[in-house]
Amino acid sequence: MGKIIMIPFLILLLTACSKKEPVDQVHLTEPELYKKSCITCHGKPSDTSINLSLSHAHKYTKEQLIDIMVNPPGGMPVIKLTDYDRERLADYIINETKP
Ligand code: HEC
Repeated sequence: MGKIIMIPFLILLLTACSKKEPVDQVHLTEPELYKKSCITCHGKPSDTSINLSLSHAHKYTKEQLIDIMVNPPGGMPVIKLTDYDRERLADYIINETKP
């Protein structure tokens, strides 16, 4: 392949890589992941003193919690996470809020 052809190809590759796709945050434990992504608005999962408390979140199924993260309700931003990390968070929240 000639150099001329390679250049646009390289630019394409570079721009594709600079778009930040989420990666599994395996270096974080579930509580750390929650702290990083959710705690600023929701406080600790079991904390009932917070306006946006998730203390009742055990009433949701894992699938529903994942869906909430993918299609958040009014006012909640989409938080870029992988499917794997969303699953971990859903499990964590259900476990932490079980009565
Ligand atoms: C910037 C603030 C913010 C962050 C960060 C945030 N949320 Fe939310 N969340 C909200 C708001 C606002 C609502 C909507 C409350 C409503 O509609 O009544 C909400 C709603 C929810 C609900 C539904 C609660 C209910 O009562 O039905 C769940 C579950 C939830 N968030 C989970 C999460 C998880 C998990 C994370 C971390 C991945 C997260 N949120 C991060 C602001 C946030």
